[in-house]
Amino acid sequence: MKITIAGCGNMGLVYARAFLRYNIVKKENLLLVEKNEQRKEELQKLDIGKVVTMNDPAVAESELVILSVKPQDFSEIAEGLANILKPATLLVSIMAGKKITLLQKKLNHKNIVRAMPNSPVELGMGITGFSVSESISMEQIRKVENLLGTTGRTVFFEDENLLDAVTALSGSGPAYFYYILKSMIDAGKEMGFDEATSTLLVKQTMLGAFHLFNNANKSLDELIQTVASKGGTTEAALRTFNDNNVNKFLIEGIKNAEKRAKELSE
Ligand SMILES: NC(=O)c1ccc[n+]([C@@H]2O[C@H](COP(=O)([O-])OP(=O)(O)OC[C@H]3O[C@@H](n4cnc5c(N)ncnc54)[C@H](OP(=O)(O)O)[C@@H]3O)[C@@H](O)[C@H]2O)c1
Repeated sequence: MKITIAGCGNMGLVYARAFLRYNIVKKENLLLVEKNEQRKEELQKLDIGKVVTMNDPAVAESELVILSVKPQDFSEIAEGLANILKPATLLVSIMAGKKITLLQKKLNHKNIVRAMPNSPVELGMGITGFSVSESISMEQIRKVENLLGTTGRTVFFEDENLLDAVTALSGSGPAYFYYILKSMIDAGKEMGFDEATSTLLVKQTMLGAFHLFNNANKSLDELIQTVASKGGTTEAALRTFNDNNVNKFLIEGIKNAEKRAKELSE
């Protein structure tokens, strides 16, 4: 299989590495199209694929093209890309907010997959929601699942509109966790721990709590109850959160992220 990665920055490199790790492609068949000179040099040094230009004949032979430039750079790359896409080529865009119909129009191409990954893809622990154009068969969807699955879990959505909610929930999600963790670490510091100790306490708490949630046959409410005994310390904290509508504001924030995702894709 020949694969081109168009825009080989942070995310492009994640896919290049993941495809090689899972033997989806050999490095001589992995083509990296990148415009940033410094980045090109870095890619050459990494020796993970061929650094080429869009008009290299090998690019036109690719069965799969991953489009991973920033959304604002799409119009610049679109024409060159449209010229090399063959009808059977599968184009997978990970650009936030660029809709399938727009990609089809600008690239003059039918077979489009629109995917929304999140940053833990870097460690193979991401989650990617994706939708496809009508022209894509079930067999191709399975193929896409295998490809995107090299970076973590995948979820297919028939309704492309849901990708705005995916963007708001799992795409931006890591930042919400960092925000909460930062507050916990700050609280630790205010109570007298140094940064390293507070961070250690919070990190391991997060890790352990995640595994309990993932493995226990209990709902989140039940899990909260196992920690929060009546009149105890956890209850004092939870009461403060509830009195201040923390839950309501978290939900409202995430819905605002969805609203912004919709605005950006208009
Ligand atoms: N990071 C995330 O968690 C995340 C999650 C979901 C989706 N995404 C999407 O992933 C995409 C890539 O994000 P990123 O963080 O990897 O960005 P990035 O590091 O800036 O990578 C994009 C690369 O493409 C290059 N480029 C721009 N125009 C080009 C062109 N015409 N031809 C060839 N290369 C070109 C850029 O060069 P210059 O630096 O010179 O511009 C840059 O090296 C974005 O569309 C974003 O919406 C990211």
